[in-house]
Amino acid sequence: MKHDIVLTVPIYATAVEQLEETFTVHRLWQAKHRSAFFADIKDRVRAIATGAYPVNAELMDALPRTEIIATQSVGVDHIDLAAARQRGISVANTPDVLTEDVADIGMSLVLAVARRLISADRHVRSGAWLKGNLPFASKIGGATMGILGLGRIGLAIAKRAEAFGMTIVYYGPREKPGVPYQRYGSLLEMAKAVDYLMVSCPGGAATRHLVNADVLAALGREGVVINIARGSVIDEPALVKALEEGTLGGAGLDVFADEPRVPEALFAMEHVVLLPHIGSATHATRAAMGQLVVDNLKAHFAGKPLLTRVG
Ligand code: 8YV
Repeated sequence: MKHDIVLTVPIYATAVEQLEETFTVHRLWQAKHRSAFFADIKDRVRAIATGAYPVNAELMDALPRTEIIATQSVGVDHIDLAAARQRGISVANTPDVLTEDVADIGMSLVLAVARRLISADRHVRSGAWLKGNLPFASKIGGATMGILGLGRIGLAIAKRAEAFGMTIVYYGPREKPGVPYQRYGSLLEMAKAVDYLMVSCPGGAATRHLVNADVLAALGREGVVINIARGSVIDEPALVKALEEGTLGGAGLDVFADEPRVPEALFAMEHVVLLPHIGSATHATRAAMGQLVVDNLKAHFAGKPLLTRVG
């Protein structure tokens, strides 16, 4: 017998194919009328597979037989974990398999901002090189990177940044045992001391606007903020203001407060590099993430422990 599941958004294609083989899949994004969609399936659906789509108490209540939520993401800030706990719903995410790719994008943003790679590419394509050279850029070797959130992804970025000759320090709620980098007890103090602030902590209420106007001011005119985590961690209007006024040197952003909407004031800024949330967007990694969604759902219905349970 195939169990019924709801898929809220498309996930990696091979994972969807596998879900189809094992389950009866109801696609929420194709529903013409949500209330009719839920009314039809609410007594049968036992799992929700999702990506970056809010799974809140309302959705859980619309599908009251839900036993598990499996998300194709390491981040779980789009899931109301307390509501899931109250309803006895397990949650599974996709850590580890995306760590290296997200770290690659973090380091790419450091290089792209410091060496003005995007402007340089434009300089060639537009023919401007025929009229003159670009101004000099900034050296990253010898610079200091302060990592906000030295988890799996933060550590993978640290490893890369070290290979580029950067000094690494970090800020986080706990001292990480066995880590060779200096920890700051205050984000503000760290921001004063570093050239690059790498945001790589989880999103959600606990980290909302941790990077505020004071932290950005402490980074200073030569300072650069890179965000591969969640837009919510930075006070975005304060970031735009600091960049406009030149009190912050630059930014490399893969994530935004209200994706896919990006503050238009950033579009014309040469000292800013903007990416459309592509940290984990490679075929290999998205396939592995999708596979984990499938494997967690299969484990659940086979009565086995989840591979990557949250909490
Ligand atoms: C995904 C991410 O793009 O894993 C995460 O938390 O932010 C990204 O890797 C996103 O969640 C869509 O699945």
